[in-house]
Amino acid sequence: MSKAKILSAYEEMAESYNNLIDHKPHNAYYDRPNTLSLLPDVKDKSVLDAACGPGKYAEILLAQGAKVTGFDLSTKMIALAQQRNKNQGDFFVHDLAKPFENLKDASFNIVLCALAMHYLQDWTSTIKEFYRVLKPYGVLVISIEHPFFEYNYFNSTQYFEVEPVKCTWNGFGKPVEVNSYRRSLGDCISPLTQNGFYIDELLEPKPVSEFEKLDPKHFRELNEFPAFMCIRAVRKG
Ligand SMILES: C[S@@+](CC[C@H](N)C(=O)[O-])C[C@H]1O[C@@H](n2cnc3c(N)ncnc32)[C@H](O)[C@@H]1O
Repeated sequence: MSKAKILSAYEEMAESYNNLIDHKPHNAYYDRPNTLSLLPDVKDKSVLDAACGPGKYAEILLAQGAKVTGFDLSTKMIALAQQRNKNQGDFFVHDLAKPFENLKDASFNIVLCALAMHYLQDWTSTIKEFYRVLKPYGVLVISIEHPFFEYNYFNSTQYFEVEPVKCTWNGFGKPVEVNSYRRSLGDCISPLTQNGFYIDELLEPKPVSEFEKLDPKHFRELNEFPAFMCIRAVRKG
């Protein structure tokens, strides 16, 4: 599966993603409140928002007094992140899978990576880069699609394999095919524990009440079975 397909899907969706992100139920009332609940106080802290998309998380963190650096594979997403944050924060185009060569060792208190790790086939080099740029005892917060949800959703029969999967998203303008990688729970945890992190919290989120008004069907389903998973890992000293 080519990275070009992932990039082209996000380039195609970027405008509508940005227009909808403030109130799209799965983002605004499911992922964000739960993922943000795992962050420590960000005031005066340096935060790396890896795969920042159109900068909605950055907007929230900047408003809370954080110093935010963000990057994304998509040039359009980065332009939107800059526009949304009106020259606050530092945003640039970069691939999560490549070394973060312009970021210094031990330069961040917090790394956030929301809903993006499933675009990587191999997590190890990225987790090593998160470790390198975090200060000792710095916090890494990741949200991903829940491995058990994906196993069912993609009708997998090979739980232990890292499998390329794809689905069509209809919620961001015209239908877009989105490619990603499904993996086991162990393959979400061991790249962290084998590369200098301990798991501090693993959250199987539930939607917040605003979700119900906008999408009662998925509100009910997400209260019965999680679609996402949020992890707080701490860099060992
Ligand atoms: C579902 S969006 C999440 C955006 C943002 N983190 C949020 O939660 O609002 C996924 C983002 O990951 C980015 N992405 C996908 N593969 C990437 C890669 N290899 N490196 C950097 N960004 C990537 C996409 O361009 C897209 O902006």
